Amino acid sequence: MIPYGRQSIDASDIAAVEKVLASNYLTSGPAVTDFEEGVADYVGAKFAVSFTSATAALHAACAVIDLTATDTVVTSPLSFIASANCARYVGAQPGLADIDPHTYNINLDLVSIDARAVIPVHYAGLPVELSNFSREGRWVIEDASHALGARSTTEKVGALTHSDMCVFSFHPVKPITTGEGGMVTTNSAELAEKLRLLRSHGIVRDPDPNTWLYNAETLGYNYRLTDIQAALGLSQLHRLDSFISQRNEIAERYRELLADLPVTLPPAAPSGALHGYHLFAIHVAERARVFRELRQAGIGVQVHYVPVHHHGISTDIELPPGGLPNCEQVYEGLISIPIHPGLSRKDQDTVVREIRKTVVK
Ligand SMILES: Cc1ncc(COP(=O)(O)O)c(C=O)c1O
Repeated sequence: MIPYGRQSIDASDIAAVEKVLASNYLTSGPAVTDFEEGVADYVGAKFAVSFTSATAALHAACAVIDLTATDTVVTSPLSFIASANCARYVGAQPGLADIDPHTYNINLDLVSIDARAVIPVHYAGLPVELSNFSREGRWVIEDASHALGARSTTEKVGALTHSDMCVFSFHPVKPITTGEGGMVTTNSAELAEKLRLLRSHGIVRDPDPNTWLYNAETLGYNYRLTDIQAALGLSQLHRLDSFISQRNEIAERYRELLADLPVTLPPAAPSGALHGYHLFAIHVAERARVFRELRQAGIGVQVHYVPVHHHGISTDIELPPGGLPNCEQVYEGLISIPIHPGLSRKDQDTVVREIRKTVVK
């Protein structure tokens, strides 16, 4: 099976992990600090706080802005369920605003002024253009699980000029991996401090080395990344730009090779922006048949995503009057085809050949 996404691990990644295994620290130690500083430098943020996953990071980001049960947190319906669950974790109300069919990203004009927070998702690695969004008191937490290394027309994703926090995922199919892992960037020292507390049991230690005292000041969790994971992450970060260029080359080649077929190609990045191409999601007629035939031909297609409001858990979401027609229409034919840095030209040709066979009958 040619997978839709896959990590790229080389000898330098393995050497970085081996070095930690032979060191004194396995859980959070100097490698975690180095990785956090590396990501903060890379995106141009003041602070970066690592977590065990983007899901944990989204939970923490919602927890540190003190949402209450009457607060609504609006995200994109075309996303993984974690983008909405983070509101539920803190007892707030998840909400949805329809997508823009030209970007597959949330249409920020549709986010209610009453929302307390908005979680724009950079779907597939195409950055949401936040610079025109008038926040009017609303918190903005970017779900950039797909978009480390991508750039909007104004800045790198994670630089936070138009948001409070930005969350990344390091799951193996994501732009870089730590096995499992996540990170929040923020320019607020106060939010960074709260995030660090929440990540480790809410505990503050007495700085005096001659005392054992520590105090759990607030409710916290164990959401700590390990040094083993962080060493892998930092090593991967050094290769991130090359991963993004490879993904862009593969995407451009798909655009050429699929141009004459009856498929809709994914939204491209506007001039001046850089797409992360975490996903390459085409739109086809008869999606169920095409999906089945491609799987049977050894092409590891996937669908991103079953919309948030289609899930059983989402009966708690009040949909906008008129529903979410753009999301429904885009979801209807969506199929993610393989894209990842190690995808060979030969495998890409096989993917295109099999798509041709199934869409031209
Ligand atoms: C948009 C989005 N948000 C959040 C997550 C959760 O990431 P993690 O697996 O690191 O918890 C994912 C994972 O697929 C995702 O795609």
